[in-house]
Amino acid sequence: MTYKAKFRVWRGEGGEGRLEDFTVEVNEGEVVLDIIHRLQATQAPDLAVRWNCKAGKCGSCSVEINGKPRLGCMTRMSTFAEDEVITVTPMRTFPVIKDLVTDVSFNYEKALQIPSFTPPKDVKPGEYRMKQIDVERSQEFRKCIECFMCNNVCHVIRDHDENKPKFAGPRFLMRIAELDMHPYDVADRKDLAQEEHGLGYCNITKCCTEVCPEHIKITDNALIPMKERVVDRKYDPLVWLGSKIFKR
Ligand code: SF4
Ligand code: F3S
Ligand code: FES
Repeated sequence: MTYKAKFRVWRGEGGEGRLEDFTVEVNEGEVVLDIIHRLQATQAPDLAVRWNCKAGKCGSCSVEINGKPRLGCMTRMSTFAEDEVITVTPMRTFPVIKDLVTDVSFNYEKALQIPSFTPPKDVKPGEYRMKQIDVERSQEFRKCIECFMCNNVCHVIRDHDENKPKFAGPRFLMRIAELDMHPYDVADRKDLAQEEHGLGYCNITKCCTEVCPEHIKITDNALIPMKERVVDRKYDPLVWLGSKIFKR
């Protein structure tokens, strides 16, 4: 069944822009990205949108649809009423390059700041033995497709550019938690999380978890346990004493 949908799409670059209205054909089974492609093909050939897999796996097509972060390729048109105006805007937390394409390099800078997996020196590759429960724990975090919708929606940086240098966002705090929980990682992730990547800014609003297309329980399984690990260290009298002695 075919019908005409009303779309409002953000157009602009260089810090300026406006919403533009379109009426566009929709066919059964289509997703929002199909409609954006139809707009490119029929009415707005220079409309910029980033996408790659069209299968919910590359994380490229993140936009905001009616104000909510969504993957354009996984948002079925059937979730909207036929007479509903569908507004598509770029992710708000990152600077717009053009139209729906944002500059997400903030996220790559944060990723680079996290020291990689650091195994003990005396354990050789091939000698690692992990319990199934440890494998499963990190498996959940490794489902991340780096769509950056969690970082986009977190209020700590969404309207506060000034917090960006001090806050890695849920995606990378989750990465730090993943490494801290790894039985063979010996790097100090707790001070890193708290002092350099702003774990303390997170007040557990869970907006990140709500938008994750991979349904990763970012807050419950990564951020809250990481906060507990930081607190355990801080209030463990032996650890406290050790930190005083070795800091001298
Ligand atoms: Fe996207 Fe989820 Fe990964 Fe965040 S944790 S970047 S929302 S897949
Ligand atoms: Fe932000 Fe998620 Fe914490 S949205 S405040 S990182 S629970
Ligand atoms: Fe790859 Fe949408 S195009 S996740």
